[in-house]
Amino acid sequence: SMKQLSLYNDQLMPALGLGTWKSQKGEVYTAIRQAIAIGYRHFDCAPIYGNEKEIGTALHDALLAGDVTRKELWITSKVWNTHHRAEDVIVALKRTLADVQLGYLDLYLIHWPAAHLKTVKIPKTKEDLISLQQLPLEETWQGMEECVLAGLTRHIGVSNFSTKKIKGIQASAKIKIAVNQVEAHPYFQQKELLAYCQQQHIALTAYAPLGAYERASLMPNHSLPFLSDSPIIQRIADQHDATVAQVLLAWGIQRGTAVIPKSTNPDRLLQNYQAADLSLSTEDMDMLARLDSGYRYERGSYITLEGSPYTAKNLWDE
Ligand code: A2P
Repeated sequence: SMKQLSLYNDQLMPALGLGTWKSQKGEVYTAIRQAIAIGYRHFDCAPIYGNEKEIGTALHDALLAGDVTRKELWITSKVWNTHHRAEDVIVALKRTLADVQLGYLDLYLIHWPAAHLKTVKIPKTKEDLISLQQLPLEETWQGMEECVLAGLTRHIGVSNFSTKKIKGIQASAKIKIAVNQVEAHPYFQQKELLAYCQQQHIALTAYAPLGAYERASLMPNHSLPFLSDSPIIQRIADQHDATVAQVLLAWGIQRGTAVIPKSTNPDRLLQNYQAADLSLSTEDMDMLARLDSGYRYERGSYITLEGSPYTAKNLWDE
């Protein structure tokens, strides 16, 4: 049975979802169909991942085949940094809805608290970026609210937002933030942010729940062992006759977050889905809690270019 997270309005979001960043075209169709057959209902998408059309074809075919109903699905997507102006948000959402072949989303997120010029998908120079003074997140949130009022998404939320930026939105929001999606795994636990979100009834979704080793491997000087190499986690996994990945996912779910591991491999899709049934002991949870290093793998480094209005400090507020 699928574990659920309860949102501020008592609606339920499946605690385990499928991530689709880096899911390749030509592979993601089959992965989505297999995932639905396994029992996945929650899919995490974004236009910048470049694969929403193929995901849409898979969703369309699964619905047509009767593998699942629209109501059973939970589909998340995100407004890209080029569409932060209030009137542009709904334009971006309509594009995504056409691509995923749905009439509405379950959740629409502000992908990053940073805006680009409309013509610039990935900024290369500081001139490609628009500062938050020029284009405040409150304005983007108004655009998000209009999407709910237009019936195009059931819930709205944010991603890569600090407590401070959440508070900024909360000050003027008419519709509440349902979810904040951020990097979270045992090496980067986000304990304070999670505590604030839980107190505010904002669900936290953990991206890179398997430890972001793809991002880590891109880092020149990273000195931490990959989570998948941790002997402590391996020992816990062995005790439960589970894999390290399953322990990482069960940990995320048991501490009250949603987790969205990406996979396009059938064995790992199944393995990850079954992690929701793994029950870790208090002792296991305590041991994992002690692995926090406060080390962020996803830095948003393309936003914090030299001279950009965004810096590591004002992007993450830490
Ligand atoms: P693959 O698609 O070949 O399974 P995250 O979502 O934390 O960023 O992790 C995604 C990465 O982890 C992908 O490279 C994915 O590759 C890999 N992965 C997904 N599930 C597992 C698993 N159960 N064990 C090992 N690697 C996994």
